[in-house]
Amino acid sequence: MVSSDGTQQQLADRGSNRSQRPSSDAFRAFIASGWAPRESALPARLPAADHAEARRRRLGDRFEGDRLVLPAGPLKVRSNDTDYRFRPHSAFAHLTGLGTDEEPDAVLVLHPQAQGGHEAVLYFRPLAGRDTEEFYADARYGEFWVGARPTLAELEARTGIRCAHIDELPDALAKDAGQVHLRVVPEADEAITALVVAARSSSGQEVDAETSQAEDAALAEALSELRLVKDDWEVAELRRAVDATIAGFAEIVRQLERASGHPRGERVIEGAFGARAREDGNGIGYDTIAAAGDHATTLHWIRNDGRVRAGELVLVDAGVEVDSLYTADVTRTLPVDGVFTDVQRRVYQAVLDAADAAFAAAKPGVRFRDVHTAAVTVLAHRLAEWGLLPVGAEEALTPEGQQHRRWMPHGTSHHLGLDVHDCAQARREMYLDAELEPGMVFTIEPGLYFKADDLSVPPELRGIGVRIEDDVVVTASGVENLSAALPRHPDEVEAWMASLRH
Ligand code: GLY
Ligand code: MN
Ligand code: MN
Repeated sequence: MVSSDGTQQQLADRGSNRSQRPSSDAFRAFIASGWAPRESALPARLPAADHAEARRRRLGDRFEGDRLVLPAGPLKVRSNDTDYRFRPHSAFAHLTGLGTDEEPDAVLVLHPQAQGGHEAVLYFRPLAGRDTEEFYADARYGEFWVGARPTLAELEARTGIRCAHIDELPDALAKDAGQVHLRVVPEADEAITALVVAARSSSGQEVDAETSQAEDAALAEALSELRLVKDDWEVAELRRAVDATIAGFAEIVRQLERASGHPRGERVIEGAFGARAREDGNGIGYDTIAAAGDHATTLHWIRNDGRVRAGELVLVDAGVEVDSLYTADVTRTLPVDGVFTDVQRRVYQAVLDAADAAFAAAKPGVRFRDVHTAAVTVLAHRLAEWGLLPVGAEEALTPEGQQHRRWMPHGTSHHLGLDVHDCAQARREMYLDAELEPGMVFTIEPGLYFKADDLSVPPELRGIGVRIEDDVVVTASGVENLSAALPRHPDEVEAWMASLRH
C-alpha cells in the first residue's frame, strides 16, 4: 500500500495533515486546477431516514429539555498510520440511518427547543475543496487518499437532518449550558466526551461527576431500550443479513473438503465465510468461530488455527453484517465428512430438542428468560438420563443447583440487531424479565460442550461440542425462524451437505 509520511495523529489534530511532505507553490496551484466540476444533483433520501426520524422523536420524548450528544466515533488506529475500517457507533447508525463507513468524527446532537421537542443537527467534516491541502495531502481524510466525503447539502439530503460543520460543535454544546443538561454516549468518542465535560463545567452549575455519569448511563439505557422492538425496515435488514449468512454457510460446506486437507482447516472455513460476508454485506458482524473437534468446547474459539478432521464435528458460529450494519448470528455444527456418528447424533439431538422447546415457549406475553428455562430444562433432563448429573434434573434446575451449566454455561438467547448482543444496556425489567413483544428479534442457541479433559463424562462424549443457533422475530402468536432455510435436523443437515458436495 501507499504510505504517507507523518506519524500517529493525536485526537486534537483530527483532520490535520498526516503527510508532512513540503509542497511548492507551483505544485499547489497545479494540483488545485484542471478538475471537472463536481456532480451537482443531490443524492436520494436514505430508505431508513423516516424510521430514524421516528426513533429520534421517541428518544427525545424521554429526555425533554436535555441536549443529547451522539457521536459516530473517531477513526481508530490499527498500527502506526493505518486505521481500522470505520464503523459508526450503533446508536449513531440507528438515529441517522447511516451505515457502512459513514461518517468518522460526526456527531448527532438533539438540541432541546423552547417550544418543546428537539431539533436534530448533524455535525461533521464536509468535503474539502480541491484548493485545500487536505484534498491531496491528508492521508487520513483527504479525497485523494480515502475518497470524497459528502458535502453538508448531500448529507442533509440523504438523512433529512440539518447538517453543520464540525467546527460549530463546541459552541453548540456550550450554548445555554447554564440551563440545559447535557447527556453523551461517553464511550463513543473520548474527544467529544471531553468537550461535553468542559461544557458542563463552564456552565457555572455545580457539576458532580457521579450525577453526570448517571445521566449518561440513563441515555445509554434509553438507546438500548429504543432498539428492543425492531421496526419493519429493521426486520427486513435482519432478513437480508440472515439470508447472506445462509449463503455463507453453503460456501463453507463447499470448501469443507479443502479445509480437511489443510493444516489450518479452520482458517479455510473462516475465509470462505468472510469472503461471502464481504461480497454480500459490509463484512462479518463479529469474529467467526470455526471450531473443529475439541475446539468447539471453547465458547469463543476465534483463533481458528486448527485442523478439521474427518469423523469430527465442526462448530461454525458466523454472521453477515449488511451495509446498514444489522447482523445475523447463526451457528451450525456439521459433521466434517457429511455424516454424524451415533454419539454425535445423540448429543446433537439433545441440543435440537432443547432449541425446539425454546421455539415452542417463545411467544408474546412469555418472559424473555423463560425461553432459556425451556431449553435448559430439556438439557438437564437429558444429562440426568445419561447419568452425568450428580443430582436429579429438577434439583439441578433450582438456583442452588445449576450443575448442568458445566456443559451449557451460556444463555440461550440475546437480542440481535445493530450489535450482535443488541440492547445490552437495557434494564433487566426491559430485557431478561420483560415479556416478549412482536418485533423483538433474538437468538435461540442452546449447546452442549464436553471438553476433551472432562473426566466427569464417558470417553465417547469427550471432545464433542454442539451448538445450534437460529435468529427469530416475535410474531403475534409465536416466533418466526428467520434462519429456517438453513437445515437444523441432523438428517436434513446430512442431505443438504451431500447436495452441496456432489
Ligand atoms: N456469536 C456470539 C453469540 O452467539 O452470542
Ligand atoms: Mn453466535
Ligand atoms: Mn448468539
